[in-house]
Amino acid sequence: MDKFVIEGGTRLTGDIYVSGAKNSVVAILPATLLLDVPCIIDNVPDISDVEICLTILRELGAEVEKTGEGTYRISCENVSRYTVPEAQARKMRASYYFLGALLGRCGRAKAAMPGGCNLGERPIDQHLLAFETLGAYATLIKRRNMRGEEYVDAVELETDRLTGTNISLNVVSVGATMNAILASVKADGITTIENCAREPHIVDLANFLNYMGARISGAGTHKITIEGVPFLRGNVAEGSVETRTYSVVPDQIEAGTFMAAAAATRGDVMIHGVIPHHLKDIADRLRECGVRVEEIENEDIVRVYVEGDKRFRATNIRTEPYPGFPTDMQPQMAVLLSIAEGQSNITESVWEDRFKYVTELRRMGANIDLTRDGAIVWGVPRLHGASVKACDLRAGAAMIIAGLAAEGATEITDIYHIERGYSHIVEKLRGIGARIQRE
Ligand code: EPU
Repeated sequence: MDKFVIEGGTRLTGDIYVSGAKNSVVAILPATLLLDVPCIIDNVPDISDVEICLTILRELGAEVEKTGEGTYRISCENVSRYTVPEAQARKMRASYYFLGALLGRCGRAKAAMPGGCNLGERPIDQHLLAFETLGAYATLIKRRNMRGEEYVDAVELETDRLTGTNISLNVVSVGATMNAILASVKADGITTIENCAREPHIVDLANFLNYMGARISGAGTHKITIEGVPFLRGNVAEGSVETRTYSVVPDQIEAGTFMAAAAATRGDVMIHGVIPHHLKDIADRLRECGVRVEEIENEDIVRVYVEGDKRFRATNIRTEPYPGFPTDMQPQMAVLLSIAEGQSNITESVWEDRFKYVTELRRMGANIDLTRDGAIVWGVPRLHGASVKACDLRAGAAMIIAGLAAEGATEITDIYHIERGYSHIVEKLRGIGARIQRE
């Protein structure tokens, strides 16, 4: 079984580089189905969720060519299929973006219910609300499990015409906001999406589509307006051979993970290729713990370091949609709090089951109690190495940080979760002095 082996106790020091954002690229790649010209996507992270997206594109009939490290030329001209291959759909949560993109492209889409991290119930009612409000008819294909209970196994969408309208989401949802954008960029007329999520990856998807000729405004606010356009070919004149290149935004959560790792190991790390304002809430929480975080003026660098030998201070975190503290940083931050002095409270307001890592962290000596919607962490002076597993992507990232900060050796299994979302994590961390290897 593949695993990471970490010898803890080394301060991380030096320079590390952030890759393109997972949660952006998994929407941008399906969005290429909406284009009427080929495009080049750059700064694509080398992660297994990207591999799955590219496989889906290829199986739908797209031409995908790797033209350099992290660069792909994608042409969807010959796509005629509208069914997302089942095996791939089930491997990843973001496969549902193919529903919105295919619906927007050809008025039909079918996909098995998506897989991905198990963080409790992950409904898609808001996605369906968006599709149906735009004029699509959704059929839920149901099955029964071994206990005879009915569940939704796949979704099929169909429409003669998508028409611009007002979509008011009942829940602030990243996925539903992205899917509403994908389905409406080529609809007739004007669509408004209210109660949108505001994450950087939503802005990135809108920027990509606008660059290719869409008319989307308000991304990053609670209300997005989309004026439907018949074609998406950028400013490229018909018949021209110019291909536009779009670079994926840096990964806010990968950067945050490196920040937490630098802090927990009491290191001094320059994290390059970041957008500092995306990291504000993470930086603020780290500062509350006594960690120094400096944004390097006019550069895309953030420096994270710890001075002296005082223990970290305890603090409280509450996860919230952007610009609040990201749920995708909650497990990593919990590691720091587990070695801080005093009691910290964590409140998780996005996912009902994002505390699987607690059992693993306890194996390393952490003192954490679960509450109805969160956790109470009583800091201990130090963690010790142990055999643990990556229960999901961010839980796995937390185990790496814990292993790096702990005394002794840590072995992490189920690392496929981590490799879904972190590009070359072993090489990158070794570059700043971590003693970690993949076995
Ligand atoms: N929700 C509904 N109905 C829906 C959709 C969502 O009730 O139709 C609820 C969810 O149950 C949850 C809340 O709304 O309580 C927020 O869910 P959201 O739709 O925003 O999450 P998502 O789009 O499924 C994305 C990221 C997650 C990240 C969340 C929150 C991708 C591919 N995934 O998920 O990333 O935790 O937003 O920021 O973008 C990760 O990267 O580790 C990860 C899990």
